[in-house]
This record gives sequence, C-alpha cells and structure tokens, in this order.
Amino acid sequence: VCTSHDAGPLVAVLASGRGSNFESLARAFDDGEIPGRIVCLVTDRAEAGARLVAERHGIPSYVLPWEGRRAFEAELLALLRRLEVEYVLLAGFMRLLGPTVVDAFEGRILNIHPSLLPAFPGLEPQARALAAGATESGCTVHFVDRGMDTGPIVAQRRVPVLPGDTVETLAARILAEEHRCYPEAVRLVLSGRVRLRGETVWCGPDGFEVRA
Ligand code: GRF
Repeated sequence: VCTSHDAGPLVAVLASGRGSNFESLARAFDDGEIPGRIVCLVTDRAEAGARLVAERHGIPSYVLPWEGRRAFEAELLALLRRLEVEYVLLAGFMRLLGPTVVDAFEGRILNIHPSLLPAFPGLEPQARALAAGATESGCTVHFVDRGMDTGPIVAQRRVPVLPGDTVETLAARILAEEHRCYPEAVRLVLSGRVRLRGETVWCGPDGFEVRA
C-alpha cells in the first residue's frame, strides 16, 4: 500500500461488543509493535464496551446505528474516506459487511473468528465445536471477502478442547489466543510482509512464522 503517512497506515476498528480484541490491538499499536495508528472505533451499538476501550486509548469513537445495510455502509464509507482510513479491522463486529465496503477495501479488511476456520463459521462457534465433539479448536484471522467468515486465512492458533469444558471455559481459552494472534497477524499485514493477491495470501521475501 502506498501511504503518505510516515507513521504507517491509518486504521479503523469496527466492534459491537466488549472490545477485548480491540484492547489487545490498541496496546500493540501504542507499544509500536504494529506500524500505523488507529484513528477511530466504529460501532453499531452505543452501549458497546469497546467505546470505553477507545476512551482509555484516546481513540475517537463513532456510533453508526444499524438502520439497514445500505444506509450503514454509505455512512461508514463516507466516514472512512473522510478519515483517510486505509485498513479496517473487525473485532467482534456482529454485522456482515456487503460488497460496497468489502470491494472498496479489498485486501485491507481483517477479521478474527473464534474457531479454526473453515470449521464453524458464523454464530456461536465455540458451542458448536463442543456439540460436534471437536478435540481442538482455536482462532483464525482472515481477510474479509463477501462471505461469512470465508476469506483467505492469515493466521491461526490452536487450543485443546478439554474434558469438562463448557462454552465459557473453551471461549476463554480461545480468547487468550485471539489476543496474541490478532496483533501478530495485523503486524504482518500492515508492515507489508503478508498481503492478499487475488484469493491468495502472499508472504514477502523474508517469509514469516506464525506459531500454532
Ligand atoms: C471474539 O471471540 C471474536 O473472535 C469474535 O467476537 C468476539 C469478540 O470479543 N469475532 P471482544 O469484543 O473482542 O472481547
């Protein structure tokens, strides 16, 4: 990506909920582990805990209530353009983005999902992994395409499913890995070491290692 910003790309985070992944990202940016700057949080829910995270990190938050996809996406795109946003990070954003946004930011939107995709896309993946008797699960960071949790994968981290696990214990074990995996994957993409070419995730000449 060609950028006029010396400090690296300008980034928007989209979140609907408590914002623990947003927190791990904001810390990694603050610590200089990821090049660039988070210039806004966008949420569809005024009561989202993510807004408190934004406040703590001095990041402006914008509430765009969901009144249908078309209106939401028009407002979102206008905001992202106004702020000169180059990358969009979905961190527990509970809406499916349509082609107007996905195509405008092709190869520049990332999402994190609490399963080893392509297993268990969509809602309640931890409960479905348990119900299916999976012996392991984990998290996946992927580029966003037009589908639901279907885009090309950048990084995954695994966890075991243990005897006696409940949805809560499994979700917590996965979440701890999410907080490591997402900043690492974002660092690889925003530093240009990993990028999307067509439908392929391409690694720069240095190569890279993501420990499973
Ligand atoms: C995470 O499990 C994330 O993978 C999923 O939604 C959850 C958001 O949690 N997409 P938080 O708001 O980041 O704490």
